[in-house]
Amino acid sequence: NAPPTSLDTFTDEEQMLREAVQRFATEVVGPKVREMDENENMDPAIIKGLFEQGLMGIETSADHGGAESSFTSAIIAIEELAKIDPSVSVLCDVHNTLVNTVLRKYGNKEQQDKWLPQLAESKLGSFCLSETGSGSDAFALQTRATKDGNDWIINGSKMWITNSYEAEIFLIFANIDPSAGYKGITCFIATKDMGIQIAKKEQKLGIRASSTCTLNFDDLKIPAENVIGGEGKGYKIAIEILNEGRIGIAAQMLGLAQGAFDKAVPYTYQRKQFGQPVGTFQGMAFQIAQAAIEIESARLLTYNAARRKEQGLSFTKEAAMAKYWSSVVAQKVSGSAIEWAGGVGFTRETGIEKYWRDSKIGAIYEGTSNIQLQTIAKFVQKEYS
Ligand code: CAA
Ligand code: FAD
Repeated sequence: NAPPTSLDTFTDEEQMLREAVQRFATEVVGPKVREMDENENMDPAIIKGLFEQGLMGIETSADHGGAESSFTSAIIAIEELAKIDPSVSVLCDVHNTLVNTVLRKYGNKEQQDKWLPQLAESKLGSFCLSETGSGSDAFALQTRATKDGNDWIINGSKMWITNSYEAEIFLIFANIDPSAGYKGITCFIATKDMGIQIAKKEQKLGIRASSTCTLNFDDLKIPAENVIGGEGKGYKIAIEILNEGRIGIAAQMLGLAQGAFDKAVPYTYQRKQFGQPVGTFQGMAFQIAQAAIEIESARLLTYNAARRKEQGLSFTKEAAMAKYWSSVVAQKVSGSAIEWAGGVGFTRETGIEKYWRDSKIGAIYEGTSNIQLQTIAKFVQKEYS
């Protein structure tokens, strides 16, 4: 059943996409969620299924093999996948809102013709910005690129790279001129077979089916035509894409909160104690009502940011607010959901506890919650000074 929401601003196409993703998530992803979490592994059949469903080139033009849908459609897909499995959701999120978008926005015609069809049809992408010494301070990255004739030679390493275990296409941010500071950062596109090495696959608290790896680049040779958006433009590309990507993470956390709610709340109306469904005790009912408000507020912030972006309005502050708040709500609601189901909620069998483990990442990646607050604070200061 669709969750009760006052938000009714979706086009017929977006509504149809939501229903199709719901079906895919429930029927194809659902049966594999626990096994993938336990094995810390993404089933390749799910990645294949996402491509077959047209969910890996959501905004990509039909000419390039994509679905040519709206940004909101991408957000809907991320939300619906997260209701069932936030790991599958982030895989789709990074691929669409970060990797595809960099190429759609900053790639030249040759680059778009070459890379977008592969990314829409079969090849998974990764976005490689963070390093061991530069997470929040992303522009302090140490990976270097030096020119060698018609090639660039990249040396360095990236940490925490989502999708990288399965990916074939990588956007790599490297500095070509450290004396220029962050204005030397340049975005390159590379394929795995050029020599990208996976140095370590992380074992994590949550989103365990989503791969997160350290990558090493040891004299990685990249042709000059693989610079995206121009030399020294990488820092702007990275942050402008992250401003959008943060709406994707807001949607992931929104879907996660709704997924935990959808699992736990029906149980509270079935489970009786003291001769009464536990969900009808006021102490429980008010907590459930509070959670419903919080989820709705996260939904409104998320889709407001998405629509503003689509309409060409400013959205950076709204995106930071949506990501910050959806992450708070996801953690809070999924934590409560465990308690609402009592001992049953604490077992791994019901899958409720998994939402809570998965929720922690919302406050960390694509800019920690403090980074979102810092972004919002800068806007507020500008508006009121
Ligand atoms: N939007 C647009 N431009 C911005 C911006 C924003 N939100 N924040 C900063 N900038 C620009 C500034 O305008 C400035 O550019 P100019 O010199 O051209 O004017 C430049 O960036 C540097 O500005 P600051 O000195 O204020 O920035 P900083 O160096 O202190 O930090 C930042 C900037 C690295 C972007 C930091 O604010 C930030 O967002 N850190 C978090 C990094 C992050 O989100 N990483 C995510 C990695 S990908 C990922 O995580 C994927 C996943 O998990 C699924
Ligand atoms: P730090 O920056 O060291 O932060 C530590 C703490 O200090 C945080 O609480 C932070 O809020 C606080 N802090 C830092 N600076 C400030 C400040 N100025 N003011 C107030 N507080 C501050 N990166 C990619 O490039 N691509 C990916 O695909 C990707 N996927 C990821 C997947 C996972 C599972 C994880 C865990 C990370 C991923 N990341 C990815 C990296 C992610 O973006 C960073 O982890 C994140 O930006 C935080 O950086 P950090 O871990 O170095 O923490």
